[in-house]
Amino acid sequence: MILLPKILITAALPYANGPLHLGHIRSTYLPADVFARYQRLRGRDAIYICATDEHGTPIVAAAEKAKTTPQEFVDAYHAKDEKEFRQLGFSFDIFHRTSSAENRALAQRFFTRLKENGHIYEKEVEYAYCENCKRFLPDRFVVGTCPHCAAQGIYSDYCENCGRALHGGELKEPRCITCGSKPVSRRTRHYFLKLSSFSEKLGTWLKSNRNLQPEVVNYVYNWVKGGLIDWDISRDMGWGVPIPGEKEKVLYVWFDAPIGYVSSTQAWAEKSGKKWEDYWKGDSTIYHFIGKDIIYHHYLFWPAMLMGSDDGFRLPDYIPTRGYLNLEGRKFSKSKNWFVSLEDFLREFPADYLRYYETVITGYDLQDADFAWKDFQQRINNELVANLGNFIHRTLVLITKNGGKIPELKGPDERDSGMLDAIAKAKEDVAERLERVELRDALERVMALSAELNKYLSDKEPWKEKDAAKVGNCLHVCSRGVAALAILLEPFLPFTSRRIFEMLGLDASLLKWENIGTEIPKPGAAVVDVKPLYAKVPDEKIEELEAALRKG
Ligand code: 2FM
Ligand code: ZN
Repeated sequence: MILLPKILITAALPYANGPLHLGHIRSTYLPADVFARYQRLRGRDAIYICATDEHGTPIVAAAEKAKTTPQEFVDAYHAKDEKEFRQLGFSFDIFHRTSSAENRALAQRFFTRLKENGHIYEKEVEYAYCENCKRFLPDRFVVGTCPHCAAQGIYSDYCENCGRALHGGELKEPRCITCGSKPVSRRTRHYFLKLSSFSEKLGTWLKSNRNLQPEVVNYVYNWVKGGLIDWDISRDMGWGVPIPGEKEKVLYVWFDAPIGYVSSTQAWAEKSGKKWEDYWKGDSTIYHFIGKDIIYHHYLFWPAMLMGSDDGFRLPDYIPTRGYLNLEGRKFSKSKNWFVSLEDFLREFPADYLRYYETVITGYDLQDADFAWKDFQQRINNELVANLGNFIHRTLVLITKNGGKIPELKGPDERDSGMLDAIAKAKEDVAERLERVELRDALERVMALSAELNKYLSDKEPWKEKDAAKVGNCLHVCSRGVAALAILLEPFLPFTSRRIFEMLGLDASLLKWENIGTEIPKPGAAVVDVKPLYAKVPDEKIEELEAALRKG
């Protein structure tokens, strides 16, 4: 039996606390999906794991606002996220939940091991408490003014305006989010993870793991050198993973969230008769796709938890980290109505339009990108429709007009053979880029092949050619180009890919990297139900969507 290399791919777990928007997709779920699909096409044993992140005060606060329980609230968003992710073609092997029994048990195991290994201690602290609501007010239960930048309406754990993490008691003019009272200070016992004692090990790992993005490593390393502060991992509240041996304390959401990557793998393995340890503890490669707002958690907390648990876990191999997506130059904001939800987008356009646009505006770096309706329209119309859609449709229509069957290749001329060589070369170039997770460059290379094929077809002008063998050769080469594009595009545009295969009458089992450029559309086979792949995005639609956004 041949042992395939194992690849574990995760995307940051979305909070189940509100509708997904266009920005959520770009840094994590989409790139991770492109990468997972590519690995599977190569025949590798790759799994793509995701789940909803269901604990924490944002969820409790949102549930209270919606006058429902946290459980009902997360149930609804889990189902909604799952549906929209499916519509976008995300190929998770499992889309699980951090409130699952597996995650609770594993988070408790991590806690217990870290404590037994001497990495967790207890300490009395002063904490905000609302005498009116009779509860402690962790994180999002308190709003006030940022002590650093004076922004108002800021939550007590993080300033959205200046981006600084805030510590207990720092917030100015604090108010209880529920009743508006001024909190008092009360003593309570909390658990802390000794992050400070991992500094050396973390520093060594950061410097020795050459797969991590250097621009991120540089500044994370400076945080380590500047001294890490021990991490408060407990909360006095009822919603969360109960801390073993405690009645009214749960683990901080950021403790159990990354454990969700592992527990979801366990749930998947259980269902599919696989061993989760093969991916987490064996000879595998682990990729965590994240956005740049959660660097601290993935480059420091999570590796420290894995190291300290001393349970045989691999450390992350790659942490592809991307910037934010803005909308028409401004931050997405649900409360300010500057927002396009996935649901709204998918009502208007095919999923592949979003997959295409968000991939071509996302480089291998931390740069923010902008989603702008006009730019979206131009990219779709000039690239997807005018280049790719046009080549594929022209080819299939010409084949239909010439008897509807894939012609044979008989005595190709130099240009025909050159085009077949160019397909083989594109296959190598795209693979090289995909191996390095350079997804935009890979997609651009596929589009360059499509442009080359378009030019080949236009230069050959088979519609004017009298020699039937020459016409046949051109259409044969083009049909191989169409099939090659379908496979090359599968990671990026799975719906397009499937549709092309249908029109070529090809079985989905032939969707394999090794088939790129080969004669899989067999001479003599008929093309089926040929229709244009795409429709142009009209000006009026863009004007309507722009107006809707500005109206709020
Ligand atoms: O920032 C967020 O949206 C978190 N819900 C991400 C969690 S990622 C992982 F660690 F679970
Ligand atoms: Zn209160």
